[in-house]
Amino acid sequence: MKQILIIEVSPRTGVSASRKVTEKLSARLRAEFPDAKLVYRDLAKDKTPHLDDSTLKAISSKDPVEIQANRESGRLSDQLIDELLSSDLLVIATPMWNFGIPSSLKAWIDFVVRAGKTFSYTESGVSGLAKNKKAILVIASGGVFSDGPWKPFDFVEPYLRHILRFIGIEDVQTVRVEGLNIPSLAGAAVPNAEAAVERLVL
Ligand SMILES: Cc1cc2nc3c(=O)[nH]c(=O)nc-3n(C[C@H](O)[C@H](O)[C@H](O)COP(=O)(O)O)c2cc1C
Repeated sequence: MKQILIIEVSPRTGVSASRKVTEKLSARLRAEFPDAKLVYRDLAKDKTPHLDDSTLKAISSKDPVEIQANRESGRLSDQLIDELLSSDLLVIATPMWNFGIPSSLKAWIDFVVRAGKTFSYTESGVSGLAKNKKAILVIASGGVFSDGPWKPFDFVEPYLRHILRFIGIEDVQTVRVEGLNIPSLAGAAVPNAEAAVERLVL
């Protein structure tokens, strides 16, 4: 394990449940892989912009002149992709917002899911290029979505698993920090998730 990329999403610094659990996970990763470099990308502090016309030309144009003219706008995408492709393990710690992922995480995804870099179109369909990597998802939610009547309304885990598989990352484990807004469950949510961190297969 050479490099581990940890994506933090919650803007609630100090009280964030997903960040608390990621702290525990980071401690375990540091202990298990003392030689690995841990790279933190905090999307709440270091915001990825939305894709604009110039960035799209830089990263998806087929015209070399257009690519060259917009080169600067493609640099952040290049940098974020390098960070991802240089990592053996990706950790995404995110809250559920309105049943999906926060737009800050979607913006990061829009910058790293890029044809020719993290996936390619082949004769036999789409092929992921982010090979030989694992991912761990830490998902915090006010309700319970791992099971029960709300499970069909979870658009976080199925989406993240799908997009990771699309770029070639198939080995994905999930830690849920759930029930945070349900008084009878809230107190146990972080301790249960921290116990789940200990059970992850690293
Ligand atoms: C804008 C917003 C939208 C939310 N939407 C949902 C939701 O759809 N379902 C849910 O269970 N919890 C929802 N919550 C609750 C959060 O998922 C919960 O507070 C969680 O702890 C956030 O993670 P964090 O503590 O790491 O910030 C929402 C919270 C906010 C601020």
